[in-house]
Amino acid sequence: MFAFVQCINNGANDSKQKENKKFKEYAGSLTCAKCHQKIYDSHIQTAHYLTSQKASEKNIKGSSKDGENKFFYSSNVDVAVEKHNDQFYQVEYKDAVKKMSASIDITVGSGKRGQTFLYWDKNKLFQLPLTYFTPLHQWTNSPGFSNRVIFRRPITSRCLECHSTYFQKTSNEGIEPEDFSKTNIVYGVDCEKCHGPAAQHVDFHEKNPNEKKGQYIINPNLFTRKQQLESCRVCHGGKIAKTKPSFSFQAGDNLSDYFAIDTTAKDVANIDVHGNQYGMMVASKCFKMSEMTCGTCHNPHENETGKITTFSHHCMSCHNEAHNNFCKAKEMVGKQIIKNCIDCHMPELPSKSVMVLLQGQSIPTFASMRAHFISIYPEETKKFLAANKK
Ligand code: HEC
Ligand code: HEC
Ligand code: HEC
Ligand code: HEC
Ligand code: HEC
Ligand code: HEC
Ligand code: HEC
Repeated sequence: MFAFVQCINNGANDSKQKENKKFKEYAGSLTCAKCHQKIYDSHIQTAHYLTSQKASEKNIKGSSKDGENKFFYSSNVDVAVEKHNDQFYQVEYKDAVKKMSASIDITVGSGKRGQTFLYWDKNKLFQLPLTYFTPLHQWTNSPGFSNRVIFRRPITSRCLECHSTYFQKTSNEGIEPEDFSKTNIVYGVDCEKCHGPAAQHVDFHEKNPNEKKGQYIINPNLFTRKQQLESCRVCHGGKIAKTKPSFSFQAGDNLSDYFAIDTTAKDVANIDVHGNQYGMMVASKCFKMSEMTCGTCHNPHENETGKITTFSHHCMSCHNEAHNNFCKAKEMVGKQIIKNCIDCHMPELPSKSVMVLLQGQSIPTFASMRAHFISIYPEETKKFLAANKK
């Protein structure tokens, strides 16, 4: 009996040690800065890097000032965002009496469209009731929460897998809500999400400063088109169900070895714009009739938000007068065409899944997302021409 118990303990320690070893394989992006300064400097400006952080005054969007810090669920129930001794909290009040309160420990979302918040309860993570909705600069009820105050929505490793580089799970597979280590975390979609854990790479190059070829590191430049696409699709491919524990997939792996992928053809009108840039893009003629990948238009190390002219130049690398496949509406648009192909062919459309319920309203408000189905949108052309006539 004694031996049996000990055997189980040994097993548990083994798996703990394995997990700790896994965390030690990460070096963190600050380490990369020493040798890849330029990439580091631009990477830390990206929505990827900022998508999850340890909460602090600096990175919590939204206000805790009186008059701006509340969301009313009904005339006598509200949740307020408050600061006490440098720590931020969400606090529920009923008839002005304090009911429930929890600290804001982790931010999720760069805040481009919104930001939601998590708190630790022992080793479990829960989502807080209020989310900040950037387009309207307001606190709202967190998306998907019914219209009442909820403090107990568990956060799973699947959620963290898309919004961070590494969280160490400390509970056994299959048990939910899961337990996580509070210290062994790599926040953000950081370098090592796309290049793999890199402690060994750092160690090697520190000891071999004359080595000019990168060692012990994933180089996406060597990927096939499928590998390139899947390294983005894992998070930008909409809902896919995992078949292996979260955080096992690495850039370069076969996505279908880790997720059940629905291969039935989808009608583009039914693919939601939220989080499924992949599904939208692959339905486009551009994609089907060229070698297009996400990298055709996106530089993974840069914040390119709003750089519409740069994106338009990427269109024109394939569509130009010389190739005789330039825009058929070019006479109508005039000279300005070279600055903006995007608003007509990849318009911002309301997303069905990025929506929030604003205070006192029963119909949700949608955030707009950039459509990755590259096509002709006659209504958007009309809007564009009307706006640019003035
Ligand atoms: C001590 C210096 C050093 C550090 C620290 C370092 N690297 Fe490198 N890395 C190199 C050298 C040298 C190369 C090869 C030349 C080049 O591509 O710049 C390289 C190449 C790379 C490549 C391209 C791979 C290839 O085959 O060319 C990637 C990706 C990379 N490093 C990622 C990282 C990441 C991520 C970090 C931080 C976790 C990091 N590096 C930290 C020195 C370093
Ligand atoms: C681990 C998951 C993950 C992977 C892998 C990933 N992304 Fe993302 N990406 C995200 C998340 C999450 C956001 C939203 C960040 C936010 O605003 O909080 C995002 C945002 C973006 C944005 C919008 C940036 C902006 O300024 O709004 C672009 C573009 C993007 N990703 C491209 C890519 C490309 C290209 C790849 C593959 C090379 C890739 N992503 C791989 C999770 C991922
Ligand atoms: C969203 C995924 C993603 C993230 C995050 C990311 N990279 Fe990359 N990286 C790529 C891709 C894709 C390529 C290949 C295409 C390219 O060079 O732009 C690449 C290429 C590189 C290269 C080789 C460049 C070359 O010209 O050969 C280096 C070095 C590198 N990355 C370092 C880093 C470092 C350091 C960080 C963090 C500070 C980082 N990357 C973050 C996806 C990413
Ligand atoms: C399959 C990957 C995936 C999962 C799982 C996922 N997200 Fe996201 N999330 C994204 C991507 C990608 C974006 C960027 C917007 C887009 O492309 O739709 C995003 C956007 C967001 C944003 C808005 C960020 C901004 O500033 O624009 C928030 C907040 C967010 N997610 C929270 C969560 C939370 C909380 C969970 C878990 C309960 C979760 N997400 C699960 C991929 C994912
Ligand atoms: C890698 C090359 C490539 C890039 C980059 C590219 N396209 Fe295309 N695109 C094609 C090909 C090939 C076709 C199909 C044959 C054709 O119409 O020339 C196509 C088709 C189209 C069509 C017709 C769609 C339809 O359903 O009839 C439009 C509109 C279009 N592209 C606009 C754009 C815009 C706008 C961009 C930039 C956001 C862009 N393309 C980027 C290669 C590309
Ligand atoms: C033909 C060019 C092109 C290709 C290919 C492309 N994108 Fe984009 N992407 C854009 C443009 C243009 C924007 C809008 C930028 C802006 O408004 O600031 C954008 C925006 C985004 C955003 C931000 C979403 C939003 O609504 O703000 C994400 C996330 C993204 N792309 C991911 C991807 C992923 C993942 C792939 C590959 C599956 C991909 N893109 C392929 C052109 C492209
Ligand atoms: C004002 C909106 C608008 C702008 C800006 C615009 N387009 Fe178009 N584009 C259209 C419309 C509308 C059509 C369809 C015209 C027709 O069929 O008569 C079209 C047609 C096309 C086609 C041909 C599709 C086919 O049937 O083969 C391509 C390719 C294309 N555009 C690419 C571009 C590129 C590249 C840019 C930027 C340099 C651009 N467009 C800018 C509205 C626009």
